[in-house]
Amino acid sequence: MKLMVIGGGGREHALAWKLAQSSSIARVLVAPGNAGTAGEPKCENLAIRDNDVAALVAAAVQHQVGLVVIGPESALVAGVADAMREQGIPTVGPSAAGAMLEASKAFSKQLMIDAGVPTAAFAQVTTEEEALRFIAARPAGGLVVKADGLAAGKGVVVCDTLDQARTEAIAMLRDRPFGDACSTLVLEERLTGPELSYIVLTDGTHFLPMPTAQDHKRLLDGDLGPNTGGMGAYSPVPFVTDELAATIHATVIEPTLAALRARGIPFRGFLYAGLMLTPDGPRVLEFNTRLGDPEAQALLLAFRGDILPMLLACAAGDLSATSPPPSTPAAVIVLAAEGYPLDPVKDALIVGVEEAEVVSTAKVFHAGTRLDRGLRVNGGRVLGVAAHGNTPDEAISSAYLAAACIRWSGMQYRTDIGKALNEP
Ligand code: AMP
Ligand code: GLY
Repeated sequence: MKLMVIGGGGREHALAWKLAQSSSIARVLVAPGNAGTAGEPKCENLAIRDNDVAALVAAAVQHQVGLVVIGPESALVAGVADAMREQGIPTVGPSAAGAMLEASKAFSKQLMIDAGVPTAAFAQVTTEEEALRFIAARPAGGLVVKADGLAAGKGVVVCDTLDQARTEAIAMLRDRPFGDACSTLVLEERLTGPELSYIVLTDGTHFLPMPTAQDHKRLLDGDLGPNTGGMGAYSPVPFVTDELAATIHATVIEPTLAALRARGIPFRGFLYAGLMLTPDGPRVLEFNTRLGDPEAQALLLAFRGDILPMLLACAAGDLSATSPPPSTPAAVIVLAAEGYPLDPVKDALIVGVEEAEVVSTAKVFHAGTRLDRGLRVNGGRVLGVAAHGNTPDEAISSAYLAAACIRWSGMQYRTDIGKALNEP
């Protein structure tokens, strides 16, 4: 069978690499892919943008692919899944309507309220007056200012004081750093506690929990610096007990799927609850309608068996008789460009990738790379160095050992991924 992976980041490199190992897969087409997928056995890049619906569907039909797996939210929001299904092509990834759960914080907050899913108190504002009025009525303390639309994980500013929140809200509304994504803002109560990426594969009714993961959103060690798309992750998260998982299923996953069904929104794909484990229990910070990046790089390396059967069952709309393959601990360290997340500096020559993969449990996934007289920096998050192990500590150590082989001018990464396993 041929299949198509849509996207060109580290998550999609990991998906293509993992699926190419399935004995039933003859060829993996990756649109657009990256320098990493270009070099993988059985993989071939197609120069099609991830939101070019017509070209993607035409390629899937032409190559008679038996499965499409969609990585990024941009493709989901553009309606790629809907268009593939209209052609009868089995697809993993929700409809454009389902992707609103990620693409609009206002939509997802309303759905959470309707479904009784625990989340932070919030207000939605579109003018400076509304923002200032809401902030003036808040008790002193922290507040979170979020762009309503998609901003690649960067449209969120966690403010320590109301003064800072005023400044940030006015700057976002006036300067529009994320374009129309910040014509509406969500102002949100600041919660505290460890974060957890709780990802399930769902057919809209049944769901399979993936191994748990913890991302590290801030740029710098010690959770300092600006928010990013994610600087590293590990799996599984040791403090997630069966009891906590059952609470998350009952209070978050099941009511959310029921609310989607009640709205007539089909959902076949990954549903990712970004949770904060507060002293009052799990609260949803955001939903994503896809695998996390970089969580996926750790999870896909963690799986010890074939993931194709569960993806085919998801695409066919019935996960009731399927379970995920067994998994071991795994971790991924993101290597980012100088200037990331604000203004990544491109073109630096990357060395040491082959040396890193000499670490037998490690795998280097590409994201912002391109080939041009050697491997070059071509984006903010450049490489994800992943490794598996018998324990999370072993996986993390191997990932760092491999990462230490790689260098370029201005390369930055966190040295504390998984080190402060911040328990609730
Ligand atoms: P989001 O894109 O909404 O997940 O936000 C990105 C990051 O900002 C989260 O992973 C948290 O680290 C932080 N964050 C978002 N909302 C809150 C909140 N209400 N309280 C504290 N931190 C938050
Ligand atoms: N790692 C966070 C995300 O994928 O949104």
